[in-house]
Amino acid sequence: MTKSTAILGLGAMGEAITRAAAAKGHHLRAWNRTPRTIDGIDVEMSATVEDSTRNADIVVVCVRNHEISRTVIDRIPATNTSGVLINFSTGTPTDTVDSAALAAARGVRYVTGAMMVPTSMVGTEHCSALYAGAEEDLTAAQPILDALGGSSDIVGNDHSMPPALDLAMLDIYFSGMYAYLHAAALAAAHGVEPAAFLPYARGIVDTLGGSLPASTTSLRHRRYDQGDARLDMCLSFLTHIVESSHQAGIDPGLAEHVRAASARALDHWPAATDWDVVAEKFLGESRSRPRMADTGQ
Ligand SMILES: NC(=O)c1ccc[n+]([C@@H]2O[C@H](COP(=O)([O-])OP(=O)(O)OC[C@H]3O[C@@H](n4cnc5c(N)ncnc54)[C@H](OP(=O)(O)O)[C@@H]3O)[C@@H](O)[C@H]2O)c1
Repeated sequence: MTKSTAILGLGAMGEAITRAAAAKGHHLRAWNRTPRTIDGIDVEMSATVEDSTRNADIVVVCVRNHEISRTVIDRIPATNTSGVLINFSTGTPTDTVDSAALAAARGVRYVTGAMMVPTSMVGTEHCSALYAGAEEDLTAAQPILDALGGSSDIVGNDHSMPPALDLAMLDIYFSGMYAYLHAAALAAAHGVEPAAFLPYARGIVDTLGGSLPASTTSLRHRRYDQGDARLDMCLSFLTHIVESSHQAGIDPGLAEHVRAASARALDHWPAATDWDVVAEKFLGESRSRPRMADTGQ
């Protein structure tokens, strides 16, 4: 059956979602703060949130952040809340819980979404998104999940979980990309062109991926005795990176931060302890309560 879908927010991601829904035959109405049009697809533009959400089976909100998305949800009249709303705006776990609470208070059926791919992958088999919500709301939202393509990972009814996972992954992404950009500059300072460095960079990223299961075991048991990478040896590596950065006239960036963390760990732990004992500082500071099942790795 054709779904009537309202899209609130037509930035790059809102437009990508709109195009994917159009390709699957959704009947589309859209609103954006700044009036605009989308070429090449059939989408009716509305001047207000009220108009665009009237009789919608599904409402997608995709704006800059959750604070803004709450102002948008607030504008949905009580008469327009029969459909399910999926909020793809990025925020913190606290943000997404607050937005879900607002939706509940206004009688809006609500799903938290976290899009984990760039716009070019939306609507393709490479799309990947996380969702949380009540089972019946997720079922009602299924036509838009299907339209987006790829994998839809439903993580339960805890609205803090999609951003918790999304932001943890982005933490790896941005730290990794920043380290890569620094490493490429360090290599370039010694005459290695970025293209010549690329295969080496890819190789070490693969090595990092291969190291994660052993580190996961260490974190799970809070034991750092697998003997792969001694703390004192790793501190020496990091000191070399920092020194060679200074010699090349480059800010050592993250390497100095990691070196200092490793030196502090060496004050507290035997030199032969695995390097990933640096995690103990984070674990000591964290106010976490385990809520997602341990897969037994
Ligand atoms: N782009 C990506 O690759 C990507 C990937 C994953 C997740 N996301 C998330 O998707 C969400 C949307 O991202 P985006 O790429 O479309 O671009 P964006 O620049 O983050 O958001 C643009 C949208 O937010 C609206 N907006 C901004 N301030 C507003 C306000 N005060 N009131 C009402 N609407 C306002 C814009 O309206 P105007 O046109 O009027 O400015 C536009 O519709 C973000 O939370 C982003 O983190 C994006």
